[in-house]
Amino acid sequence: MKLRMHHIELCVADPNPVAELLHTQLGLRFVGYRESAQCLQLIFKMEKATFIVTTRKNLQCQRNDNNNYPDIVFGSGSPTKSDSSNLLELTRDVRESWTLFCCDDQDFSSQERKAQHVDSVFNVAIEVVNVEDCVNSIRNISKDLVLKDVTRRFDSDPELGYVDYAVIKSCCGNVVHTLVQKSHYRGWFLPGFYAVNQEEKPASDVKNSGIITMSHFDHFTFACRVGESDEIMDWYERAFGMKRFITNRQDSELEGLVIGDDVGLRLKVMQFWKCSESGLISTSSHDDDDDVDDASNNIYSDWESEPLKIVIAESLPNLTNTQIEGFIKDHGGPGIQHVGLHTSNMLETVEVMTNNGVKFRHPPPTYYTEIGQLDVIKSVGENVAVLREYGILLDNEADVFDSLENSTENDDNDECYLMQIFTYPVFNRDTFFLEVIQRKGARGFGVGNVTALARSVNAFNQAKLLEMEKMMNVSSANTEKNEDESC
Ligand SMILES: [Fe+2]
Repeated sequence: MKLRMHHIELCVADPNPVAELLHTQLGLRFVGYRESAQCLQLIFKMEKATFIVTTRKNLQCQRNDNNNYPDIVFGSGSPTKSDSSNLLELTRDVRESWTLFCCDDQDFSSQERKAQHVDSVFNVAIEVVNVEDCVNSIRNISKDLVLKDVTRRFDSDPELGYVDYAVIKSCCGNVVHTLVQKSHYRGWFLPGFYAVNQEEKPASDVKNSGIITMSHFDHFTFACRVGESDEIMDWYERAFGMKRFITNRQDSELEGLVIGDDVGLRLKVMQFWKCSESGLISTSSHDDDDDVDDASNNIYSDWESEPLKIVIAESLPNLTNTQIEGFIKDHGGPGIQHVGLHTSNMLETVEVMTNNGVKFRHPPPTYYTEIGQLDVIKSVGENVAVLREYGILLDNEADVFDSLENSTENDDNDECYLMQIFTYPVFNRDTFFLEVIQRKGARGFGVGNVTALARSVNAFNQAKLLEMEKMMNVSSANTEKNEDESC
């Protein structure tokens, strides 16, 4: 089954902080939007990495009085074409097109209830060759998983064709997948979305975006409960033909990559696997439109170059203080913990992002002075001082070279390594964050970097706790003082 990530969707109460981060700080272009009776959706994109920031209209909070992002949307862009028929279709939609909200059954009638909303990354939209076949596979797992059956959405311009799509529920937390089949579509993005003309935007809106390079989503990571990772892997294998990916020498097929001590994590990685191509769905059912078939085959020919990778992270049993347990608590259940964006130039990209105001986590100071780590960084020719300045992690143990299944042309390259850096939480709770990753031949994930990330999360949480304790102490001291004075 051929598939690739189409976009990742966030549901937020206030789009402004996320828009600020994605657009102004991380340099993604604001390329389009869609407005329906239920929501406003903003599209941010860099090459093949596309985010949709969705705000439900009955959820829009008054948290930020400078709620100016929608003004930028409608002030700087204009619909690419007159589209009255599309608007009519929107108003006829009983359920929202393209998505189903993660918080659909919640009542947001009062400000108090709105404030309880948990911002979340809830939809990984996947482009597939044949959505009907894909939905049938899902139905074989369980009929309840199909939240919106295959629906055909025409563009307002009939010459641009249509998109078939469906929405399915995943087996992890609040995550859904919108499945889109675009083999008969020649329009922009998806029907109903409007492109924004970037040239009309003031140049000052994007700081130094020229030298930030991010090409695609490298992976996304689920945070799940103890013992759930096998069930999730089984689900993705049955639904999409994904296979277990051995990520480094310490990773075991059954146990996963187990990191004990103060980290307390188990990771299992999956990716789309070439062997599942044997069951490739034929496009012959579209023989009524040869041109479109040719176009779709050209599109699909490069799909293998960016395999969809999913990391499933759970805590080791009987631990309550891990970053995964912290995520589940703050998020209100399992879900997407982070998304990795691939860059071809880590140092420049991170330098510009830092100058733009992105706050990255830094590993413990000893990370760059440990003898082994220092040797690794020097041996691959990277600059220790620069990595330390920005908090960039480097790992050369991110592959299993002796595994036949995972072997690549790069396997005889002694200098395979990867660099990673992680932002602080994107939302107002300690839940979702972003990662920037550069792969220099390495295809997996190394223990050193996972450990360093976990330790920097722990240090951040400890600092937060200390700060809270300090504030509580100050507040109780003030109360006592006031009581004394009133006596
Ligand atoms: Fe990651």
